[in-house]
Amino acid sequence: MKPQYHLSLCLAIFLLLTTQCTPQQFACDKSKSETSQFPFCNSSLTYEDRAKNLVSLLTLKEKVQQLVNTATGIPRLGVPSYEWWGEALHGVSNVGPAVRFNAMVPGATSFPAVILSAAMVSTEARAMYNVGQAGLTYWSPNVNVFRDPRWGRGQETPGEDPLVVSKYAVNYVRGLQEIGDSKNSSSDRLKVSSCCKHYTAYDVDNWKGVDRFHFDAKVTKQDLEDTYQPPFKSCVQEGHVSSVMCSYNRVNGIPTCADPNLLKGVVRDQWGLDGYIVSDCDSIQVYDTAIRYTATPEDAVALALNAENAVNMSKVKESVVDQALIYNYIVLMRLGFFDGDPKSQPLGNLGPSDVCTDDHKSLALDAARQGIVLLGNNGALPLSSNATQNLAVIGPNANATNVMISNYAGIPCGYTSPLQGLQKYVSAVTYAPGCSNVKCKDDSLIEPAAKAAAAADVVVVVVGLDQSIEAEGLDRENLTLPGYQEKLVMEVANATKGTVILVVMAAGPVDISFAKSNRKIGGILWVGYPGQAGGDAIAQIIFGDYNPAGRSPFTWYPQQYVDQLPMTDMNMRANATANLPGRTYRFYSGKTVYPFGHGLSYSSFSKFIVSAPSTVLIKKNRNSIYPSHAQAIDVTTVNCKDLHFHVVIGVKNNGPMSGSHVVLIFWKPPSASTAGAPNVELVGFERVDVQKGKTKNVTVGFDVCKGLNLVDTDGQRKLVIGQHTLIVGSPSERQVRHHLNVRLARSASETDLAIM
Ligand SMILES: *[C@@H]1O[C@H](CO)[C@@H](O)[C@H](O)[C@H]1NC(C)=O
Ligand SMILES: *[C@@H]1O[C@H](CO)[C@@H](O)[C@H](O)[C@H]1NC(C)=O
Ligand SMILES: *[C@@H]1O[C@H](CO)[C@@H](O)[C@H](O)[C@H]1NC(C)=O
Ligand SMILES: *[C@@H]1O[C@H](CO)[C@@H](O)[C@H](O)[C@H]1NC(C)=O
Ligand SMILES: *[C@@H]1O[C@H](CO)[C@@H](O)[C@H](O)[C@H]1NC(C)=O
Ligand SMILES: *[C@@H]1O[C@H](CO)[C@@H](O)[C@H](O)[C@H]1NC(C)=O
Ligand SMILES: *[C@@H]1O[C@H](CO)[C@@H](O)[C@H](O)[C@H]1NC(C)=O
Ligand SMILES: *[C@@H]1O[C@H](CO)[C@@H](O)[C@H](O)[C@H]1NC(C)=O
Ligand SMILES: *[C@@H]1O[C@H](CO)[C@@H](O)[C@H](O)[C@H]1NC(C)=O
Repeated sequence: MKPQYHLSLCLAIFLLLTTQCTPQQFACDKSKSETSQFPFCNSSLTYEDRAKNLVSLLTLKEKVQQLVNTATGIPRLGVPSYEWWGEALHGVSNVGPAVRFNAMVPGATSFPAVILSAAMVSTEARAMYNVGQAGLTYWSPNVNVFRDPRWGRGQETPGEDPLVVSKYAVNYVRGLQEIGDSKNSSSDRLKVSSCCKHYTAYDVDNWKGVDRFHFDAKVTKQDLEDTYQPPFKSCVQEGHVSSVMCSYNRVNGIPTCADPNLLKGVVRDQWGLDGYIVSDCDSIQVYDTAIRYTATPEDAVALALNAENAVNMSKVKESVVDQALIYNYIVLMRLGFFDGDPKSQPLGNLGPSDVCTDDHKSLALDAARQGIVLLGNNGALPLSSNATQNLAVIGPNANATNVMISNYAGIPCGYTSPLQGLQKYVSAVTYAPGCSNVKCKDDSLIEPAAKAAAAADVVVVVVGLDQSIEAEGLDRENLTLPGYQEKLVMEVANATKGTVILVVMAAGPVDISFAKSNRKIGGILWVGYPGQAGGDAIAQIIFGDYNPAGRSPFTWYPQQYVDQLPMTDMNMRANATANLPGRTYRFYSGKTVYPFGHGLSYSSFSKFIVSAPSTVLIKKNRNSIYPSHAQAIDVTTVNCKDLHFHVVIGVKNNGPMSGSHVVLIFWKPPSASTAGAPNVELVGFERVDVQKGKTKNVTVGFDVCKGLNLVDTDGQRKLVIGQHTLIVGSPSERQVRHHLNVRLARSASETDLAIM
């Protein structure tokens, strides 16, 4: 979506005549008997019957005016205009026109950018709706896989692994949509509506002149099935998301928003979407391929007229428009928009005092602390504040505020910059930016920074990127620090007698090999864009009040990687003929600066297998016939019922600090597997708190048919016969291996046990 700050007409008038235009945010006002009598206002009827009734009362002209993100009101029916476009990627945001901040609600909690973590947004959204400052439909989250390190929107996603993205998607959607106790999800009612975007294989924004509006993603069936689609499938099937947004790009020649197979065929019919499909911003909402796709954002009124014209000319059946509207209205009905004044509904008690609460602010801090990754430590960290007399805080992101809240941000409750966070621990702090901004095109500020470093016993250098380097509509061309930033770090390190702590504030990976090999640099942290409380989180970790446990959600490639393949090549798999190195830890086996899953702690943890099965017996479905030496079996022919098992892993904290540990479990399929099998694949992860000196058991469940299968070149899922390996731990920690023999049951009666 384009970050254009367009104001709705109502808001423009609102600013001129502040008393006149307080937008009414709900339909079926009980105090207006002439309109609240319509069947669509009757909450005893089903959502579908109510939506059908409403659509049956509209003229064609009124219908088409509802097909754009700024839906026109229908005063004769008491239905106010509705702005569908809201954003809440990591906090309620005013990037979409549906949300406004003012004196009553001046800001909302800004959690870290998703690449660092995700959480508690929907309560603030509902509270703002109740006081007329926000809508109920949010076009978040972004669940595209962070496939290429150059992508400007990697910051919006949870990284490069499809399982991590899928789990995040499900939790984010449920967190936003579900009311109260997550166990009670039987109710259809929505707290706010979430939207999984951008469907699908969208992740080139603007790279060397190729932009997303014209990009045709050439995607193999294999990559589509095991990389690009899984997060969307999870969103719909497990998250029960109420909306999916199709992307700007084409996939194999067809615009995603005009592909009946990808939309109706897959999202609605195969996965069972209960909700609406929307096309990316300001282009018309798409109704299962019905209406002509327009690639560039156009005036909404013109689009509505086009739609009307299309119906007049019989290019589109009116019944198709009706069905699209019914899907839209059902979502608004599930949100309570047609139940009268929100203050008299469930959640009606939420108001401005529920925004930026102490709880939400400390959650933003905790989310940042949990996400930060300790990349390197030669023992310099944590620092002792007692022993730190003079601290120099240096670098273009050292006093970052706005940079910390990334894109799709709102107005935060307040900021703590890294400098401000560190000042809480040491009284004698010198600050020297070293560069005037992250582009660092001029090296004149390096000398004063080196002077400050020379006078300090500890130096914290905060380098990195911001929205001028990686952003929506802006991909990177290289992985190095911009401009003279590297020179700044090297000169500061050379100048100081003390230790340098390097903090990388950026979403995508940066090639910091130069720092890894510099002995003066005693500790390295990656902090993503850590949100409003980022400075406190950084300082608490540096001074040891919090023991870091974050893991890198992507591979840190060396700079040379970008010369090995164009960003526009969508192949995940390595291909020796085409000289492609492969993408992400699943398919790339070249050199890394840090691997996927890397992350240190101030403690040391050891892991061991407490219990795990050694054999999985595959039983056929009644009518399946396998060749006698089947190596790879179609999952659909397998009786999956009993193919679940648990692995229990012991985690011991060997000290010296209590802390959390993230147990990562990778799977390595048998060596002679199908073509294009991944090196390894993450199949489970769990975060556990362990006191120093103590041991805890972590139980991770597996579903063989869902997790331990491979996708072949036709996009079919196969179970592979042979010796599988589970690997506990990332490549940069001590790994524990466990073998699992998967074989065919010799006969249906061999044993009742599928897992042994
Ligand atoms: C709402 O619908 C129910 C069920 O059809 C009906 O009994 C009731 O009379 C309706 N209420 C109004 C106000 O029309
Ligand atoms: C579940 O949610 C519905 C609708 O909000 C509510 O009426 C019901 O009491 C809830 N049930 C439980 C067990 O909380
Ligand atoms: C569609 O047809 C109706 C009825 O003939 C007409 O009033 C309307 O102007 C037409 N709309 C467009 C966009 O041509
Ligand atoms: C730091 O100083 C405080 C207060 O003087 C003291 O309680 C604490 O033990 C000291 N910490 C270290 C690591 O010396
Ligand atoms: C750090 O940034 C804050 C907020 O922009 C500003 O008020 C403050 O003056 C800055 N500190 C320094 C030392 O420049
Ligand atoms: C790397 O790319 C950034 C922008 O993406 C640019 O500022 C910088 O100058 C480039 N560096 C080199 C060495 O090309
Ligand atoms: C390192 O510092 C010394 C002086 O302390 C200076 O002579 C030398 O040029 C510096 N080296 C670099 C690479 O900046
Ligand atoms: C590898 O690349 C070659 C040359 O582009 C292509 O013909 C071949 O199909 C590719 N192989 C796979 C497995 O995609
Ligand atoms: C872990 O599980 C094993 C097997 O059930 C048990 O013997 C052991 O006591 C458990 N350890 C902890 C720390 O709970």
